[in-house]
Amino acid sequence: MHIFFVGTIKRSYFLVAAFILQASCDNNRVHEMKEWTECQFASSCICKKHIHDSDELLVDCSNKNLLFIPRLQNNLQDLSLQNNAISTIQDGIFEGNYLLKFLDLSCNRISKIRKNTFKGLNNLLSLDLSANNLKYENMSFESCAFHFLKNLKILNMKNNFHTSFLPDLWRLWTLESLSIDYVSDKIAVLTDNFIHLKHLRSLDLSGSTGNCKMSILTEAILLSLSQLTHINLSKCKIQYIYKGTFESLKNISELDVSLNTCLRFAGLANITTDLQYTAIKILKVNYIHSTFEMSTLLKTSHIWNLRNTSVARFEAAGNRIQRVEYGAAKYFPKSFESVNVRDNAFSFGKYLFDLVRLPITSLDISESSSSHNVLTSYIETCDSQSDTFTMNSENNWLSDLRSRFDFKIKKFDNFVARLPVPRKLRKISFTSSKMKFEIPKFGFITNELTHINFSDNILHTWTGPITNVNNMTVLDLSSNFCSNVSKIFFSKDFINLRY
Ligand SMILES: *[C@@H]1O[C@H](CO)[C@@H](O)[C@H](O)[C@H]1NC(C)=O
Ligand SMILES: *[C@@H]1O[C@H](CO)[C@@H](O)[C@H](O)[C@H]1NC(C)=O
Ligand SMILES: *[C@@H]1O[C@H](CO)[C@@H](O)[C@H](O)[C@H]1NC(C)=O
Ligand SMILES: *[C@@H]1O[C@H](CO)[C@@H](O)[C@H](O)[C@H]1NC(C)=O
Ligand SMILES: *[C@@H]1O[C@H](CO)[C@@H](O)[C@H](O)[C@H]1NC(C)=O
Ligand SMILES: *[C@@H]1O[C@H](CO)[C@@H](O)[C@H](O)[C@H]1NC(C)=O
Ligand SMILES: *[C@@H]1O[C@H](CO)[C@@H](O)[C@H](O)[C@H]1NC(C)=O
Ligand SMILES: *[C@@H]1O[C@H](CO)[C@@H](O)[C@H](O)[C@H]1NC(C)=O
Repeated sequence: MHIFFVGTIKRSYFLVAAFILQASCDNNRVHEMKEWTECQFASSCICKKHIHDSDELLVDCSNKNLLFIPRLQNNLQDLSLQNNAISTIQDGIFEGNYLLKFLDLSCNRISKIRKNTFKGLNNLLSLDLSANNLKYENMSFESCAFHFLKNLKILNMKNNFHTSFLPDLWRLWTLESLSIDYVSDKIAVLTDNFIHLKHLRSLDLSGSTGNCKMSILTEAILLSLSQLTHINLSKCKIQYIYKGTFESLKNISELDVSLNTCLRFAGLANITTDLQYTAIKILKVNYIHSTFEMSTLLKTSHIWNLRNTSVARFEAAGNRIQRVEYGAAKYFPKSFESVNVRDNAFSFGKYLFDLVRLPITSLDISESSSSHNVLTSYIETCDSQSDTFTMNSENNWLSDLRSRFDFKIKKFDNFVARLPVPRKLRKISFTSSKMKFEIPKFGFITNELTHINFSDNILHTWTGPITNVNNMTVLDLSSNFCSNVSKIFFSKDFINLRY
């Protein structure tokens, strides 16, 4: 049985598997041209009726090198001016546009928002000002700049600021979702600017789509934002997250701290300590270890505070996990449904038998032992270098286990290795993981597996038979080596296989 997993222990570093997450201004909208026609009021824009019988128009003036906003009709509902060369918004240009709900001014050169810039936009719901030139801090915003936006729910101002400056947003009482830059070398604090935003639910500071740097997070950062439900702090160059940072966020349901490679699982321990009395459902801690670090051990202490939460989705891809501490599985909550642990470095261990306890239905462990390009990978400089995993006494169990199985094999000629899988698991993806071995005779323990994807490995000599797969409907073994498939490989248990 141990032979089955030996292939996954190898690893090599120098091929490309880099993730490219860059903000971009050239994602052109694609239209079904037959429904769109040149606008009567501006030849460089195309128009479409909002719904068949209505007068309200959707207008697209993106990618036209416009220097100014054209004179507009009053019946617009949705206006995109994305990716032009607009540097000045004419005062009062939107006066009369009371029907406008969505305005996209992203990827222009706007450097100033005046008192009357948005006059008329009383019913605007969504404003995109990302990737402009609003970097002159308070020189870019006249006081009352957002005065007219009395119904704004969604605001994006990413890719403008390179400092900890935050514009005066206190009049945006209706705001529900904010995406903004934040760059600071000190302890991050958002408090004063946000205290009036009582309806704010979603805060996106991710450095993948804007500028984000926040070295140390403490409870000071979100004190006045206890109502938040979604927070995105991915790629924010975070070095430390102190205990207490997320403690006040009782309603938080989704938290993303991925791509902060200095945090490590010590940071995860702090985060999960805070989350234990919250409404957390989705926790993303992908790439919180650096790509070329030593292998890691996910310890019970890193996650055990999740046991009373209702986490359903857990992502911990790219964390160099080699093992999960034996006994940790019982601390994942009953609500646990789906797990993404792609791009880790799992090797065989006793913990696999422990993981059978997990109540999950879906598991992705693809790209195990995947290669990375040292030249193009995202690499940060970290303050501390502690908490790396060194090989420990857990290794002793391996010889124990082997002697136990050898004994059984001798005793029962017909012994079939039974692979442990979580009892409720339905879908498993284990693709592109350099698994190189014969597929021997084996069966799963009692299971509900319906989808298995082992594509893009080096599985050769399909001997089998594989048994106890009565519930399986989809099996993907493509991109392996099928030149020697035995006649008995597909046992009679494949009765439900459709694909
Ligand atoms: C702009 O910021 C500077 C300090 O950064 C401050 O002294 C000044 O009063 C601010 N001006 C306005 C109009 O808020
Ligand atoms: C956080 O933002 C990044 C960049 O936009 C995105 O890829 C990621 O999916 C976001 N996370 C969540 C939980 O929405
Ligand atoms: C959390 O949500 C509940 C129900 O929507 C609400 O009553 C409560 O005030 C919220 N808590 C915070 C801290 O905003
Ligand atoms: C965890 O929190 C403690 C106490 O708040 C702090 O001293 C420590 O630096 C934090 N660790 C990390 C990795 O952020
Ligand atoms: C958390 O769960 C454990 C085990 O289920 C239980 O003993 C403990 O009392 C719970 N703690 C809280 C605060 O609910
Ligand atoms: C298939 O799933 C059912 C429950 O949905 C279970 O009772 C049965 O044992 C499973 N079959 C196998 C071969 O494990
Ligand atoms: C299996 O995974 C590969 C790689 O992600 C994917 O391309 C393929 O569509 C999957 N197969 C099925 C049947 O879903
Ligand atoms: C095919 O695999 C079997 C073992 O399952 C082996 O005995 C046989 O020699 C192989 N045939 C070829 C042509 O490699």
